Amino acid sequence: MAKLLVMVVRIAGLAAIVVGALLWSGRPALLGPHIGIGFAVAIVVFIMAVMALMRKAIGVGVAGIVLACLLPVVGFMQLPLTFHGLSLVQVVHVMIGLVAIGLAERLYSGLHS
Ligand code: HEM
Repeated sequence: MAKLLVMVVRIAGLAAIVVGALLWSGRPALLGPHIGIGFAVAIVVFIMAVMALMRKAIGVGVAGIVLACLLPVVGFMQLPLTFHGLSLVQVVHVMIGLVAIGLAERLYSGLHS
């Protein structure tokens, strides 16, 4: 189960980065797909964090819940689209996305051992 979940984060996370960069470069039609893929990352990280909490891994579990909730909140804070801009909220959004993907690996190593 944990292996399947981390594979979803790896694939969807990579797709979110690629589709997000294309969206930023001026392709508004990719907004819906990017948000859909991004939510998949957030939901799976949330599920893995709950599984970690059930195993009493409080630190990574709480971090996962916080990041999974922050990801869509900060994501939507970027709207309306500006294209090619690079405001603080956009940088923070990408950082949260990357940290969430990294945390999924950490959660996975705790869940399959
Ligand atoms: C629910 C989750 C997510 C939502 C609602 C969301 C929303 C958005 C929006 C609205 C933009 C366009 C910003 C603009 O061009 O002005 C964007 C861009 C981007 N997103 Fe996401 N996103 C989500 C998840 C992710 C994830 C998991 C990643 C992976 C790192 C990611 C990476 C990017 C990148 C690289 C960009 C282009 C740079 C930027 O404009 O910030 N996003 N996202």
